[in-house]
Amino acid sequence: MKGKQQILDPIISKLVNGLEGSLILDYGCGEGQLTEKLALNSRKIIAYDISKDIIRKSKAKNKDNNIIYLDSDEYSRVRDSFEKKIDIILCSLVLCTIESEDIFISVIEDLSYLLHDRGKLVIAVCNPLFFNVKETEIQFRLFPSRAKYNSIFTYEKKSKITNRIRKEVHRPLRIYENSFNNFGLEIEKIIQTPGIDMETGFYASDFMIFIISKLEKYAGVEGLKKTR
Ligand SMILES: C[S@@+](CC[C@H](N)C(=O)[O-])C[C@H]1O[C@@H](n2cnc3c(N)ncnc32)[C@H](O)[C@@H]1O
Repeated sequence: MKGKQQILDPIISKLVNGLEGSLILDYGCGEGQLTEKLALNSRKIIAYDISKDIIRKSKAKNKDNNIIYLDSDEYSRVRDSFEKKIDIILCSLVLCTIESEDIFISVIEDLSYLLHDRGKLVIAVCNPLFFNVKETEIQFRLFPSRAKYNSIFTYEKKSKITNRIRKEVHRPLRIYENSFNNFGLEIEKIIQTPGIDMETGFYASDFMIFIISKLEKYAGVEGLKKTR
């Protein structure tokens, strides 16, 4: 049986490992499974998660000198020293878990603030274009009855491998595009993971990956929309 580790993570590892740059930030790293795969080619990785519990566990099991795990206090202390210094930022399945619009915006602001002018940002989200598919190879989804593509709504997903239920937030693609643009970020490429709608047998993709760079007119501008 497949899960996101078989469908999404290998695409992201290959993508990130193919990008140039010596300093990587895994923003919202979770338990660090993906972080560890990125560390295989010995670049320096900062891995940050808002959950102190997760970071405590990740630090305890970390054996790789190239990975530095940061909890929210440590992250707040060093954040400003990393302004425009990070060559590659990965933010996988974080934005689509955030319900608050203010926090959603502040995370995108953070990513833009930290990204080097010639850096690349790789963001993965639950694919908004297949928001109404009830069952894929890896999960069941339970939508509110009046869910509409153009609205923002929360729904539940049950993983077939773990049986864990998670809350996810649907936002239409234009909200991602506009929010990135507001912070000087431009989508260069979109990749949709392979998959099927188990009800119809047609193509249905669980995850969407954005490869993003800084808009040229914003590169070099200091303190871009820095509100903190
Ligand atoms: C679904 S997990 C994804 C973990 C990992 N990136 C992956 O792809 O396996 C989402 C993670 O984002 C973290 N997160 C949520 N909001 C965050 C925020 N505002 N800042 C940093 N991390 C956040 C959560 O604590 C959680 O560990």
